[in-house]
Amino acid sequence: MSHPSPSALTARRSPPLAGRVRVPGDKSISHRALILGALAVGETSITGLLEGEDVIGTAAAMRALGAVVERTGEGAWRVYGVGVGGLRTPANALDFGNSGTGCRLVMGAVGGCPITVTFDGDASLRKRPMRRVLDPLERMGARALSESPGGRLPLTLRGATDPLPIVYQPPAASAQLKSAVLLAGLAAPGETSVLEAEATRDHTERMLRHFGADVRVESLGAHGRRVTLVGQPELKPAPVAVPADPSSAAFPLVAALIVPRSEIVIESLMTNPLRTGLITTLVEMGASIALDNRRQDGGEEVADVRVRASALAGVDVPPERAPSMIDEYPVLAVAAAFADGTTRMRGLKELRVKESDRLAATADGLRACGVDCAIEGDDLVVHGRGRARGGGTVETHMDHRIAMAFLVMGLASEAPVRVDDSTFIATSFPDFVPMMRRLGAELS
Ligand code: S3P
Repeated sequence: MSHPSPSALTARRSPPLAGRVRVPGDKSISHRALILGALAVGETSITGLLEGEDVIGTAAAMRALGAVVERTGEGAWRVYGVGVGGLRTPANALDFGNSGTGCRLVMGAVGGCPITVTFDGDASLRKRPMRRVLDPLERMGARALSESPGGRLPLTLRGATDPLPIVYQPPAASAQLKSAVLLAGLAAPGETSVLEAEATRDHTERMLRHFGADVRVESLGAHGRRVTLVGQPELKPAPVAVPADPSSAAFPLVAALIVPRSEIVIESLMTNPLRTGLITTLVEMGASIALDNRRQDGGEEVADVRVRASALAGVDVPPERAPSMIDEYPVLAVAAAFADGTTRMRGLKELRVKESDRLAATADGLRACGVDCAIEGDDLVVHGRGRARGGGTVETHMDHRIAMAFLVMGLASEAPVRVDDSTFIATSFPDFVPMMRRLGAELS
């Protein structure tokens, strides 16, 4: 996937944000709907799919692997699946662009099929660790025929002819890794188990069940889970309604907290407890966030979330909360800058291997905007002063969430904040700029 030349964008101090918004479909669920749809036998219809570049890349990959994937309307897609084990060798390398989730989940699906596939991505994805996925897949019988130094892309994976079920303890709290092993385990006879020391987002488990697979989830230790999948199910197509993405909602949500006198409602937001660490943390900081009209929709909890500008105070964010808000730390760090007092975000090792080194990119961006902060081991410490100077240019390092977090910062800073490259916002939230402008944000 190619990107046009970098386009800078500037956010300025804005009037109170106001209005009701709906953020796009959840990225994690969108990838999974396309992949499981392709592994089911027959037609899966999807509504509310996130039509960002990352997910479109996964749609193209599943098409290249033999499924029929069609867009039938806005956010409406149909997938005709080939069944577990039915994927075919694609004609060319699969290019996942900026998307670690698409790449790693599809590596899992391929790992259980007797086909050979080359995986590639953009300069950001080529820096990210893939050995962590190859290790369990090789235990299941797949082989990396080639890989770039350090277990990086591009790499060529030969899936297992007779995949073995395994019991796997991931070395990092990673839903991508868990999901890759479960997707490969679909093709293995017997039970594949993943033992997570810290529970991560459970969309794969929920959707596997939705498609008829037998998945057991038991608690493990204080914060963990044991997830067991019975292999070789016949996945039956089931309609998927993708709920709104809490990781995208995080940006208007924090913006409404820090721009004085704002009040907004984010409609029908997914409130899966393994995704709501940011809301928990902001409420601890004193944020006015109310969850109205709580209900179930498409197998997930949703609510209308009302946010009012609030005086925030610094807090200590425990490491075990990280998996439930792993993508939200850049924008939490922005909220922390506008809080009074120190916020310590603990245990952020995994942030170093996201679309950018997000720990460094966040700290550098804060410093460029006059915020006092430090990286101490795996912790990010932000000394908030209730306001921020702004006035800096932030380097986004091909990272959509760094771009959006610092544009949010500029809406409440004394001087404008410029991000050097806004093009990657299209990977997860193509409508971000117009949606924020509709709320009153000054972005140009
Ligand atoms: C995701 C899991 C997380 C997250 C990513 C989406 C998923 O990555 O950062 O944006 O859909 O499974 P890790 O599982 O590697 O932490």
